Amino acid sequence: MRNPRFIDCPRPALAPALEAAAGLAAQPARLPPKFFYDALGSRLFDAITELPEYYPTRTEAAIFAAHRGAITAAVRGAVGGAMTLVDLGAGSCCKAESLFDAFAPARYVAVDISAAYLRDTLQRLQQRHPALDIVGVGLDFSSQLALPAELLGAPALLFYPGSSIGNFAPADALRLLREARAAAGGGALLIGVDQVKPVETLQAAYDDALGVTAAFNLNLLLHLNRLLGTDFDAHDWRHVSFFEPRASRIEMHLEARRALAVRWPGGERRFAAGERIHTEDSYKWRHGEFEALLRQAGFASVRAWRDDAGWFAVLLASG
Ligand code: AVI
Repeated sequence: MRNPRFIDCPRPALAPALEAAAGLAAQPARLPPKFFYDALGSRLFDAITELPEYYPTRTEAAIFAAHRGAITAAVRGAVGGAMTLVDLGAGSCCKAESLFDAFAPARYVAVDISAAYLRDTLQRLQQRHPALDIVGVGLDFSSQLALPAELLGAPALLFYPGSSIGNFAPADALRLLREARAAAGGGALLIGVDQVKPVETLQAAYDDALGVTAAFNLNLLLHLNRLLGTDFDAHDWRHVSFFEPRASRIEMHLEARRALAVRWPGGERRFAAGERIHTEDSYKWRHGEFEALLRQAGFASVRAWRDDAGWFAVLLASG
């Protein structure tokens, strides 16, 4: 049996603790959603995907199940035989693994901000797929998709499911799509994109009855206490989320329940009661809009598969 290889990419220019401190000091305070994903945050996100209100995961899975043959044929046509499958934000690698039979990749490259989380996952994955060439890449690609040069060259299938692209503002999404096209080296991008739908459905998905999304949002404060040494007390904050129709996005915030000060080594920030920290945007695209963005990024061909209600789209972009 082979062993997975690991490549730890250089850290971004701004160290995570400094980035968090700058976000807390900003007016209004804003923290990037990547700070949700410590070990507990990753588990809470997995729990979110099982909630009845959170439709994206099961809707995307249903699209893959319903159109497996057509998607497989289109992917093979666009990328060719012994493909490299590059899984962006791989996490538990479950979604990509469910496509191994159909796509038969020669190499699987799992890219995730958390290299430590990948190590365990890939070790287990290798046991189930002993002949597969598996590479783990620890990379924060939120500001640049800079894959190691040794992995680039041959046509690849870049896989970015779950509408994680929705957590990028449109201009940043366009930049990432351009970088993905370059990294695919003449191959293709297979991407999941959440679509606009009734506001009540959207809002329920980000404010579930069990409070799991609230816990996921609040856990960011505990992560910062470890990362930056802040003295947040999660009891002082509440989860706020709503659909903002002009920007076509769900916004998530943490709102101070009372006037308070947060301190960390070398810094302090006062919050008035009701003042917020903006923690996430999740953009929802209208039919045709994301196809247009893919074309703007340089892809010549775009195919789409949707569920019957048109709530979610799986798009294959190539050329
Ligand atoms: C990871 N990402 C696509 C999720 C979303 O739906 O925007 C993150 C999330 N935030 C709250 N619930 C789920």
